[in-house]
Amino acid sequence: MSSQFDLTDRVIVVTGAGQGIGRALALGIAAAGAAVACLDLNGPAAEETAAMIRRAGGSALTLPVDVRDADQVERAITETMSRYHRLDGLVTAAGITVRTPAVEFDPADWRRVIEVNLVGTFLCAQAVGKRLVPAGRGSIVFIASIAALAAMGRGNTAYTASKGGVVALARELAVEWAPYGVRVNALAPCHVRTPLIEPILQDPDLTARLIANIPRGRIAEPEELIGPTVFLLSDAATLVTGHILAADGGFLAR
Ligand SMILES: NC(=O)c1ccc[n+]([C@@H]2O[C@H](COP(=O)([O-])OP(=O)(O)OC[C@H]3O[C@@H](n4cnc5c(N)ncnc54)[C@H](O)[C@@H]3O)[C@@H](O)[C@H]2O)c1
Repeated sequence: MSSQFDLTDRVIVVTGAGQGIGRALALGIAAAGAAVACLDLNGPAAEETAAMIRRAGGSALTLPVDVRDADQVERAITETMSRYHRLDGLVTAAGITVRTPAVEFDPADWRRVIEVNLVGTFLCAQAVGKRLVPAGRGSIVFIASIAALAAMGRGNTAYTASKGGVVALARELAVEWAPYGVRVNALAPCHVRTPLIEPILQDPDLTARLIANIPRGRIAEPEELIGPTVFLLSDAATLVTGHILAADGGFLAR
């Protein structure tokens, strides 16, 4: 049974691999047996993740990339192919947030969130899909958010719109690429303890209010997303595509 979840000999690209959820997923995917291409805007941070993978006996490549730049993304995937000579999947964890009340939101900030979270996700999926579609196999996992499916309030218009787009993109690509054996799914996590939400976690009242909305009653740890992600990447999920998997402590069940 466990062999169904085994990623031995596979090559997976992980964006946002420099810290937080992307780093945890890169380490977890490597522990499941795959070689990992660690993409991040922050090259030294991505290299630190790759070094952690190598120290644990795995194989990893570091590629400093801005996911908003189609040429940089294409070059990174070409480099991954020339190093490993195969490609099996993608996990997109590169993401940002800007929290500002809607009436005060700077349009440049709003566009930046959409560019990184939504356009960047598409560009990575496109570059990887160009290789997976002709190969006739592969799995892509977008890290979306509960914010794609439930309003957050508190100045999150750009973030929720970007993540709503990511969910729609997962479904659209899943249908377009299903005939080619390429699966596309998204994960919808609740609040996860990473640098992204550090400003929120510094505010005990706000943190308590967030936790009150999570039936499980706590903030998630990044490592708790490894199991759902490895499942979606693996042969245990050959029939699962176009699915939005909530890893949210029951948030969306209410
Ligand atoms: N932390 C949470 O509560 C939470 C909840 C749900 C979903 N998410 C999503 O999970 C993903 C990872 O979030 P996190 O909490 O680990 O964030 P994080 O800020 O800790 O890490 C994000 C990583 O993405 C990289 N990055 C940012 N812009 C980039 C760009 N243009 N090109 C390449 N890399 C870039 C950063 O350098 C960083 O290493 C994001 O998409 C986020 O929206 C986070």
